[in-house]
Amino acid sequence: MLRRIISERETELPVLTIGRLLHIAEEDKRVISLGPGEPDFSTPKNIIAAAKKALDRGYTHYSPPEGRSDLKEAIIKKLRKDNRIHASPDNIVVTTGSTEAIMLALMCTIDPGEGVMYPDPGFLAYRPSVEILNGMPIPIQLYEEDGFQLDVERMEKSIIPEKTNAIILNTPSNPTGTVFSRKVLEEVAGFAIEYGLLIIADEAYEKLVYGDAKHISIGSLNGMEDRVLTLHSFSKTYAMPGFRLGYAVGNEKLIAAMTKLHLFTSLCAPTISQVTAIEALKGTQEPVKKMVKEYDRRRKMIVKRLNEIPGFSCMEPKGAFYAFPNISYYRMKSLKFAEWLLKNAKVAVAPGTEFGRMGEGFIRCSYATAYPKIEKAMDNIERVVKRLR
Ligand SMILES: Cc1ncc(COP(=O)(O)O)c(C=O)c1O
Repeated sequence: MLRRIISERETELPVLTIGRLLHIAEEDKRVISLGPGEPDFSTPKNIIAAAKKALDRGYTHYSPPEGRSDLKEAIIKKLRKDNRIHASPDNIVVTTGSTEAIMLALMCTIDPGEGVMYPDPGFLAYRPSVEILNGMPIPIQLYEEDGFQLDVERMEKSIIPEKTNAIILNTPSNPTGTVFSRKVLEEVAGFAIEYGLLIIADEAYEKLVYGDAKHISIGSLNGMEDRVLTLHSFSKTYAMPGFRLGYAVGNEKLIAAMTKLHLFTSLCAPTISQVTAIEALKGTQEPVKKMVKEYDRRRKMIVKRLNEIPGFSCMEPKGAFYAFPNISYYRMKSLKFAEWLLKNAKVAVAPGTEFGRMGEGFIRCSYATAYPKIEKAMDNIERVVKRLR
C-alpha cells in the first residue's frame, strides 16, 4: 500500500475557481467568455512559417539549458532597443514561458520561511509559487483609489525587513491593467535598495500599452541592473502562448543559478520555439501593432460599456487586456457574482478574489475576445443586473 501519494504542499494550495468557470463556459455554447488570459488572435503568419521551416530543418532536439545563442543575440538587441537594458549572453536564460522563469527565480532566491512581497490583486501564480517553496508570501495591498499603483508608504508597513528577500512587480498588470509610472518605479527602486531586495519584474504585457501610457522597465533605471531580474514572454506580444517561451534577464550569478536549476525543471526551453522566436523578434512587427490597435479599440468600448451598467464602475486600464470593474455595489462576493453572471447573463468572467484578497468586490473581464462578442456580453450583463437592484 502507498503510504501517501499527494504531498501536504500540494494539498494546501487553493483550487482555482477560474478553471471550473471556464470549463462550464466551454461546455455551454451560449456562453461568451471574458475569462481567458491569452490572446484570441492567431499567431502571426511569418512566425508560423518560421516554425514550419524549423521543423523541416530538424530543430527537434535539446538546446543548451541557458538558451540558444542565436536567440540570445536577438534578445540582446531587443532589450537594448525596447527596454534600454544592456545585457550580455551571461545575463540571460531562456525559459519555458515566463511561468517557469518566476518559479526558477524564486527557487534561487528564497529558502523556507523567507519572504517575497507580491501585488494583491496580482497574477494568480505569484502566491502559490512562493508557497510551493515554503516561502512566506507577503501581499502588497493595491487600492483602486491609488489606481492600483504601488504605494511605498503602504509597502513600508507590510515588509518584514529581516525576512524579506524579493519583491515581485508586474507592469502592465494582470488583472488591473495598471501601468506603473516612472515616479512609482523610482520609489520602488529606492525601497528595494533600502531593504536590499531583489526585484522580480514581470513584464509579460510590455507591448500592450495604450494611449499616452509608456512601459518602463525598472531594470533600466540607474543603478538597478544588478538588483532587477526582468521577465519577458513571447505569449502575449506575439500571440504564441502555446510555444511556451520566455526569458529572464539579470545579474550573472542569479542567471547562472537559474540555469543550473533549469536542468532539473525542464532541461531547456523548447528548441522549435526558440528558433521560431528569432523570427518573432527580427521579423515584421506590423502584426503586433495591429493586435495592439484592436485591443485598444475593444478596451475603449468595454470600459465605456461597463461604466454605463448600473452599479459597475471601471477604472480605465492602460495596459494588458483586462478591465477590472468594481461591483461591490451589489453586495455579493465576487465569486458568487461571477457564478450568477455565468448562469443568468451567460457571460464568463474571473472573480477578483482569484487574484488575491484585495480582488474582493471586483471581477476581471478579458477583452482578448472579438469586439462583437464583447458587445453582446455587455448587452447581456446590462439586461440581467436589473434583476439584482
Ligand atoms: C502577469 C503574467 N505573468 C506571466 C504570465 C505567464 O505567461 P507565460 O505564457 O510566459 O508563461 C501570465 C499569463 O497569463 C501573466 O498574466
